[in-house]
Amino acid sequence: MDYFQISGGKRLRGAVEIGGAKNAALPIMAASILCEGEIVLHNVPDLADVRTMEHLLNHLGVSSKREPNGTVRLKVEDEMNCHADYELVRRMRASVCVMGPLLAKRRKSQVSMPGGCAIGDRPIDLHVAGLRALGADMELMSGDVLLKAKRLTGTEMFLGGPFGSSVTATANIMMAAALAEGRTIIESAACEPEVTDLANFLNACGAQITGQGSPRITVEGVKQLNGCEYTVIPDRIEAGTFMIAGAITNGEVRLRNCRLEHLLAVVDRLRQVGVNIERDGEEIVVSSSRRLEPTTITTQPYPGFPTDLQAQVMALLCLADGNSVLTEKIYPDRFMHVGELNRLGAQLRKEGPTVIVEGVKRLIGAPVMASDLRASAALVLAGLVAKGETLVNRVYHIDRGYDRIERKLRMLGADIERLSRPDE
Ligand code: EPU
Repeated sequence: MDYFQISGGKRLRGAVEIGGAKNAALPIMAASILCEGEIVLHNVPDLADVRTMEHLLNHLGVSSKREPNGTVRLKVEDEMNCHADYELVRRMRASVCVMGPLLAKRRKSQVSMPGGCAIGDRPIDLHVAGLRALGADMELMSGDVLLKAKRLTGTEMFLGGPFGSSVTATANIMMAAALAEGRTIIESAACEPEVTDLANFLNACGAQITGQGSPRITVEGVKQLNGCEYTVIPDRIEAGTFMIAGAITNGEVRLRNCRLEHLLAVVDRLRQVGVNIERDGEEIVVSSSRRLEPTTITTQPYPGFPTDLQAQVMALLCLADGNSVLTEKIYPDRFMHVGELNRLGAQLRKEGPTVIVEGVKRLIGAPVMASDLRASAALVLAGLVAKGETLVNRVYHIDRGYDRIERKLRMLGADIERLSRPDE
């Protein structure tokens, strides 16, 4: 099993290329099920989760071919299989994104219910309610959600849940509605750039979707979607992680292929604590040269501060000059990193969905355990600045969503190695 060995204390300097967005690429790849003809996707990141999606699509009769430089070609070859079984879905929750496309195109979808995961209880009731509103019949069969529909019919629906909008539920309903008869209006749709990217991709295939990026999306159903060539947006969470890497090491990091307009809440908070963030032509320059101020951050659906950067910003605030308050409004249990950061000398106290971060002068290296993708990124960031050596175990979590993070960090001057030990 791989682990990272990090010697903290190096100031990061230089330029880093941000890859394509994982959470845009996954639903777009799933949408290939809807299309006649070949899909050519550019800027697809080379990640464990993307390979899992390729594997799932292959299983569902979609051929995939990865070319150098992030291009993936997808084409439906066989429409017989409609079953995404537990073995595939339990590895990656985003597998649920095939539900809407299978139902709309093949009239049947059997997808294993994803269980809970390290970031908490993650229900799929909104996905199912939306697809039922379009006319699907649903039954539960040995842990699988079985949906069937002779035809789907557009309708108006409210898709908000107890924690606001849902990114992948909006994706599923939008994909199914693209081939439904008539008009669908999704109220309380997720506004995340990844949802907009999926809508833009579907439109490039011939769909008629408007309102993407707002809480009200309208889909006029069409008879057929075709192949197309499309470039996935840059990953705002990878970009935010590298911004924090620059800030936490008091360095100067230049981000290439980064869309600042997708990160305004993050930029606002980082500037507030004293990080400099400027545009320089096509690049975004992030630098910091002094002890940072504490702040208050609450995660929210887009355009609010993203839950996927909550752990990483917590690592940064550990070293601020005073007490910060971090509240998690999307996944109230997404705090597995708190205990591990405390092992590095942080002073974190969890109170319900809030963590009080008491700033400390330094973190001290130690062995720590990665529990999920973004928590692992936070531990790596803390390791970059902790005194001495930090070992981050179970880095397979980080490989799910960051393309060779250790190579990118090393190019910026970090002292980080990927090492391997026999499986536990
Ligand atoms: N929710 C429900 N019912 C549902 C679906 C969601 O109550 O049917 C709740 C969730 O429990 C949560 C909130 O709604 O409290 C929002 O969850 P959402 O459905 O938006 O999450 P998701 O679509 O499953 C995507 C990303 C996550 C990211 C969240 C929130 C993908 C593949 N995953 O998940 O990314 O944290 O949106 O922005 O797009 C990651 O990349 O590390 C990651 C976990």
